[in-house]
Amino acid sequence: MNLRIPGPTPLPSEVIKALTNPMISHRGTEYDALQRETVAMAKTFFQTTNDLFLFTCSGTGMMEAAIVNTLSPGDKVLAVTIGLFGDRFVNVAKAMGVDVTVLKFPMGKAADPEKVASAYKELKGCKAVMITHNETSTAITNDVRAITKAVRAHGNPLFLVDTVSSMGNVNVPVDELALDVVFTSSQKAWMTPPGLALVSVSKKAWEAGKTAKCRRYYFDFAHMKKYVEHGETPETPAVSTIFALHAALKLMLARGVKETFAYYRQMAAYTRGALVDSGFVLFGDIARASNTVSACFVPKGIADKDFRGLMKKKYNVVIAGGKGEIEGKIVRVAHMGWVTKKDIDEVVAAMAGVRKELS
Ligand SMILES: Cc1ncc(COP(=O)(O)O)c(C=O)c1O
Repeated sequence: MNLRIPGPTPLPSEVIKALTNPMISHRGTEYDALQRETVAMAKTFFQTTNDLFLFTCSGTGMMEAAIVNTLSPGDKVLAVTIGLFGDRFVNVAKAMGVDVTVLKFPMGKAADPEKVASAYKELKGCKAVMITHNETSTAITNDVRAITKAVRAHGNPLFLVDTVSSMGNVNVPVDELALDVVFTSSQKAWMTPPGLALVSVSKKAWEAGKTAKCRRYYFDFAHMKKYVEHGETPETPAVSTIFALHAALKLMLARGVKETFAYYRQMAAYTRGALVDSGFVLFGDIARASNTVSACFVPKGIADKDFRGLMKKKYNVVIAGGKGEIEGKIVRVAHMGWVTKKDIDEVVAAMAGVRKELS
């Protein structure tokens, strides 16, 4: 199957092989080495010297962790949303009891840095800005560099950044941008099965954590750090998924960090070029189009369900639909993780073939 949804992605054979490694003790020297090496390799893609943890959960767990480790109930935060995952971050923050002001942009658009800055300025005493870097539901990437710069002209909040579907494939230099809590999940850019979240925690986030009163246990960074310093995790980690991530990171590093970012930039341009050349109409602000997933409109007169249904049935190609208010209107082709131009050629040929058949 040519699986081109925005995670989970297909796995390279080296990663599949790593998944079959015999189990090891998660309280032994082999695990210590596995965890240390995996974290060190992941840090090169995060471009950070901050602490970086591997949690056994999906990315959403780190939305909760980012909030509960830095904030107290009632703290004011500004949540910027440009789609469904930004909305999810808002919902998690509300559930944790923080006082959320939502700044929403229309689906298909990126956040306007100046509007974010003025919303921050108006919100006196705002402790944190929560933002999605790559909004997978609309295939749009926010300009986090411009946003942090514009906001910092008025103050110095924490930046809690969802890079679930970009980190690893897209350049997000955590230290250079001084981002405080930054998270991603294994099934996206990392050519690894679901089951792990990766999160980096800045010194400023640790400072905030000292007075943060939100309740936490499983996702407590300080609790995690104590164990990690001894080469363990507090609870049983997803050992096989870490074997897989370790193998995937070796492949990614063999290509090179900058080269990896360039590869996905090229894959994105290639995908959008192929879609346009085949007569598909791209969705959203193309100037802010994502490097890991592309969206285009479902061809006129064809139902999304029939379109994607026949692609799977006839061509064995699986792409994603739209979500929320654009459900049924767009489809999304992912080019993250394990992907080649040939895979994209197959997808676009299947889309064109099905369009012809159903028109
Ligand atoms: C941008 C973004 N944030 C958060 C999530 C949630 O991640 P998970 O499904 O790993 O919980 C996703 C998943 O697609 C995502 O794309």
